[in-house]
Amino acid sequence: MIKSLRGMNDILTKEDYTRFTYFIEVATKIAKRYGYHFIETPILEETALFKRSVGESSDIVGKEMYQFIDKGENDVCLRPEGTAGVVRAFIQKKLDRAGGHHKFYYYGSMFRYERPQKGRLRQFHQFGVESFGEASVYEDATLIMMASDIFKELGIGYKLKINSLGDQNCMPAYREKLVSFVTSHKEDICDDCKRRLSTNPIRVLDCKNEKCQTIYANAPMLINNLCQGCQDDFSKLQNILKANDIEYEIDTKLVRGLDYYSKTAFEFVSDEIGSQSAIAGGGRYDRLVEFLDGKSTPAVGFAMGIERLMELIKMPQEKREGYYIGVMDDENVELAIKLTQQKRKTDIAFCDYKAKNFKNLLKSADKMNAKYCCVMGSREIENGTIVVKNLDDKTEQTISIEEF
Ligand code: HAM
Repeated sequence: MIKSLRGMNDILTKEDYTRFTYFIEVATKIAKRYGYHFIETPILEETALFKRSVGESSDIVGKEMYQFIDKGENDVCLRPEGTAGVVRAFIQKKLDRAGGHHKFYYYGSMFRYERPQKGRLRQFHQFGVESFGEASVYEDATLIMMASDIFKELGIGYKLKINSLGDQNCMPAYREKLVSFVTSHKEDICDDCKRRLSTNPIRVLDCKNEKCQTIYANAPMLINNLCQGCQDDFSKLQNILKANDIEYEIDTKLVRGLDYYSKTAFEFVSDEIGSQSAIAGGGRYDRLVEFLDGKSTPAVGFAMGIERLMELIKMPQEKREGYYIGVMDDENVELAIKLTQQKRKTDIAFCDYKAKNFKNLLKSADKMNAKYCCVMGSREIENGTIVVKNLDDKTEQTISIEEF
């Protein structure tokens, strides 16, 4: 039997598809309230796009890409994340030259060749937003509030971690300090960190190795090495979050797994879903448009992991909906189909193609969670009527087919 690939799941059971579609409904509703528009970009992009944005030293690009040469000899990748494609589209459409503000939301499949485990898939879904053209840290705060609104409406509890990664004024000097600190401990750190020292030293802070972590506890902290501008922005960010009742904690080791960030970085985590606890992550990426040959444009965004959230959503109580229409004699099925088609102009309607007795039709309607079970027996056919039973309040009415 052919099965889906490891780490790639179907969304098929009622439990799954109701949660998935409910999430998209709520997230898009809230993104629209904040002025975001839908964008769709291809799943397949040139490999160079991800190398130049997410970064060659990141695990995502270094180890986890679904990369291959296509039939036209192009080096391509299944997207591991959504930001790079949106930035590419933004530049390709010359929106960087147009100026102004551009805000997009998207959702879809992302691919990372990771070791599958609970909460970690090889094909997973993200909902993301990207805001271009707004340099103010108020926008970063607003994005965090938008994510928080989405979680609130879905009944999802979270912890918010924030950090500042500095900018080109303060990051290089800090990097040097960190490199000299880590180099002085080179004998004791893990091989991954030794490699990071030459590719992307900041990422050592994120190392999961306990011995490394003990050493880095004494490392110089970025938060103490920010330039005045970054410090001011980081304070402003905190002030707004406090003023809007968004709880947060500063995590000085939060560096994010993608290279394009500067200044604000944040992550939402849940303690209810096991070790893969990050439910959303994002930050500012003011230099990415320029790195991809666009006109320098400030930008900030985040993405949420839909599969991880699906476990946490508190679903609203399911309501009965729509019409279940059936007959008691086979020769009247076609009339039932006609009435069902009429109802479908405005409502959910289902037609039973099999004649059944009243009790069995009620059972089927109940199973489908219909609000009304509508039945025609020989008496109703004769009188041109239909029995409509409301399955919520159990009332029953006989009405003429014309009025139905
Ligand atoms: P990210 O932190 O790599 O950021 O991914 C965002 C979210 O996707 C994570 O918090 C997690 O919930 C989910 N996720 C990541 N990998 C997996 C996986 N293997 N299985 C299941 N869920 C996963 C980004 O992708 C950035 N593009 C976010 C961003 C947008 N930054 C600025 N704009």
